[in-house]
Parts: sequence; C-alpha cells; structure tokens
Amino acid sequence: MGIIEVPVVIVGGGPAGIATAGCLNKLKISNIVLERDDCHASLWRKRAYDRLKLHLGKDFCTLPHYPFPSDFPNFVPRVDFLRYIDSYIAHFGIAINYNRFVDSAFIDESSGKWRIHVNNKCSGAAEIYAAEFLVVATGENSEEYIPKIDGLESYEGEHMHCSKYLNGRDMYGKNVLVVGCGNSGMEIAYDLSNWGAYTSIVVRSPVHYFSKEMVFAGMLMLKHLKVEKVDKMLVFMSKMKYGDMSKYGLKRPKEGPFALKIKGGATPTIDVGCIKKIKKGKIKVFPGISSIKKGTVVKFVDGQHAHFDAIIFATGYKTNVLKWLKDYKELFNENGMPKPCYPNHWKGEHGIYSAGFSRRGLEGISFDAKKIANDINMTLNSRVDF
Ligand SMILES: Cc1cc2nc3c(=O)[nH]c(=O)nc-3n(C[C@H](O)[C@H](O)[C@H](O)COP(=O)(O)OP(=O)(O)OC[C@H]3O[C@@H](n4cnc5c(N)ncnc54)[C@H](O)[C@@H]3O)c2cc1C
Ligand SMILES: *[C@@H]1O[C@H](CO)[C@@H](O)[C@H](O)[C@H]1NC(C)=O
Repeated sequence: MGIIEVPVVIVGGGPAGIATAGCLNKLKISNIVLERDDCHASLWRKRAYDRLKLHLGKDFCTLPHYPFPSDFPNFVPRVDFLRYIDSYIAHFGIAINYNRFVDSAFIDESSGKWRIHVNNKCSGAAEIYAAEFLVVATGENSEEYIPKIDGLESYEGEHMHCSKYLNGRDMYGKNVLVVGCGNSGMEIAYDLSNWGAYTSIVVRSPVHYFSKEMVFAGMLMLKHLKVEKVDKMLVFMSKMKYGDMSKYGLKRPKEGPFALKIKGGATPTIDVGCIKKIKKGKIKVFPGISSIKKGTVVKFVDGQHAHFDAIIFATGYKTNVLKWLKDYKELFNENGMPKPCYPNHWKGEHGIYSAGFSRRGLEGISFDAKKIANDINMTLNSRVDF
C-alpha cells in the first residue's frame, strides 16, 4: 500500500483545523485536512441545536485573515456561521479529505516522521499518511460526557446527550429534566419550555449568568481594565438585571466570572431567557441527582423526587485524543488536554501541534492557527537557506 506524503497533516475539519489550513495555505505550505464526517464543521452542522447563535460578539469569532461579511449581525446565527466557513474554505482553497477516520498516529522510528493510519469510511480501505508536522484539531467536544448516575441504566424514559437535541417539537406536554446549567443546558431548558414542555433544570453548583450584551461589554472592557474590576462590574450588572436568584436555587460563585475562566474553569453562562422563566416558575430548579429509581422517578440530593418522561444531559464533553494519538505524551496529558498551560499549549515536541484546546472558543482557535502556521513556516524556512 502506498504511503501518502504531505508536509502537514491536520486531523479534524472543524473551525480549528480549517483555520490552521487557511493560515498554512496563505504561507503556501501544503497540507491536508482529514475529517471523519462527510462534511466540515460537523459539530455546527449536525450536533448543535437549531436555535444556536454564536454567544460572543462577531469580533471575537472570526477565523484568521478573513472577516465576516459586514452585513452579519453581531451575534451570528448557526447557519450564517456555516456559510462563512464554506466561503473561508473556498477563499483559501483548503483541501479536506472527508470520511477519513484517523485510527492512530505515532512517530515512525526509522523516518522520524508522523505516521497517520486512516480508515476511509466510504471505500472501507485503509490509508497511511506520512507527515513531518501533525496538527491535532479534533476538538474539546469530540466525545459526549454523561456522568455515572445510580439507576440510569434502568431508566424507562427517553434520555440523550445535548449534542443530539435539535429542538423541543416532540416534547410538548412532557416532563423534561435538563441536567447542567452551562450555555447548552440553560438554552435548551428555555427552548423546551417554549415548545410547551414542563421543564426542570438541575443546578448543582454556583453559576454566573449574564446577558450576551454584558459579556460582550466585559470582553471589550478587558482590553483596558483589570480582570477584578471587570468582574465586579459584570456581577453588579447581573444583580441589577436579575436580582437575588438564590431563593430559586441559583447561587453565584465567590470568584468573578473572568477570573474563573482564565484559570481554565467554567465559562460564565449566557442567559437567553431561562432566568426569567425560572423566576416566573415556568422552569423549576433542582439540586444534584442522587439516583434514578426503576421507572421514571428521579431522586435529588435534598430528598425531593419527581417523575420525568425525558432527561437531557447538558453535562459537557471530553476530548478523544487518547483514543487515537499513540505518541500523545509529546504534547498531551492523561486527560487528553495539552500539558503546557496557555499561551504555550499549542506546540509540543517532534512537530506536533494542538489547535482548539485552550478553552477559549473561536478566539482561541484563531490564536492557535496563526501561531502554528508561523512556527511551521519558520522551521521550514530556516532549513532552506543553509
Ligand atoms: C453547542 C456549542 C456552542 C458553542 N458556541 C460557541 C460560540 O458561540 N463562540 C465560541 O467562540 N465558541 C463556541 N463553542 C466552542 C468552540 O468554539 C466550538 O466548539 C468549535 O466548533 C470548536 O472547533 P474545533 O475545530 O476545535 O472542534 P470541532 O468543531 O469539534 O471539530 C473537530 C472535528 O474533528 C473531527 N474528528 C474528531 N475525531 C476525529 C478522528 N479521529 N478522525 C478524523 N476526524 C475527527 C470531528 O468530526 C470534527 O469535525 C461552542 C461549542 C458548542 C459545543
Ligand atoms: C515565513 O518565512 C519567511 C522566510 O523565513 C519569512 O520571510 C516570512 O516573514 C514568514 N512569514 C511569517 C508570517 O512568519
């Protein structure tokens, strides 16, 4: 079997892989993107709910060297973002091989290069790529994460991870529990309630919540002011808008929202209307789940219990790096995240890079893509002259 030689192999055709390919093409460094799905940006196309819009203002969400069209709204809807990605690919002439599931990648001892073993899901054939540089762009969200809950295996209602939730059309009149109060959980709870479901949400820990506009203002302020100051202003604005929500089961963390985010922790939740519905009693808040009893009864840590027809887990994701990257130790730790902290997370030993693993959304992806392309450019060019 022939080996396909390319200077750079990029694994993953989401925004991070595409942005890196765009930056490399601009520098005329040839590369290929390998994507397991039959389309690019599949998370946005297939695994995101219908009403999703970019949560951050558009200035924080563009990919490198190619602005959004000027008529885009500040908060770009899902479909427009997909159109933008399509035109990004056309503009930079990005080459993507679809239906390529990367089974393994390791350093080949004899050549010192990366070997990438791929399963072509269309032809069923195995393919092997050899590359000096390997860019890992399989995303922070490549595996669904559902926590272990006592009794979940015998639950008789419907349950799903939030990446399978598109809208609440089939949930009218049903009792539905959303687990998790991050962006996905709060927005899905709001959506379900709008579709006529009797909606409840599990809020286990303290949470920061703001309107999109507040977060947008906060990000602008961060350019000029200290984190503590911006955090204080945001929490003040949130209290002004929402009032004291602790009697409804929502507590705010002691630490400020951006301080927490910079530490690599939870991102503040952006409220799209869920909080108002909680206040009005349209969405009920429960504390953590303790167990699920046979049938459809969910028990909570405070002793309450209730019946639910469906449970939606908005409990986050994991990376899948450890499943396919054999020589992961050149850059990644046992959790499948980069070992070096931001801003040094994007580069490892032996020509390996990570794009999209800094928990900084699309802005972080842009940062990584530019750094990686420039570094490869430098490595290649430093050689030619001698
Ligand atoms: C619901 C949701 C909303 C979000 N909203 C925002 C937002 O508003 N603003 C923002 O900045 N960020 C947002 N994010 C965070 C982040 O910016 C996006 O998740 C973004 O899509 C990440 O891009 P990525 O390329 O790193 O990963 P992904 O988009 O997950 O792309 C990774 C790609 O790799 C492929 N892949 C995985 N494993 C393999 C393999 N073994 N072989 C081949 N291919 C493989 C996958 O099929 C996928 O296409 C959101 C995330 C989610 C889940
Ligand atoms: C790429 O490398 C060339 C040659 O070293 C250099 O002139 C150019 O500035 C580099 N480009 C970037 C963006 O670093």
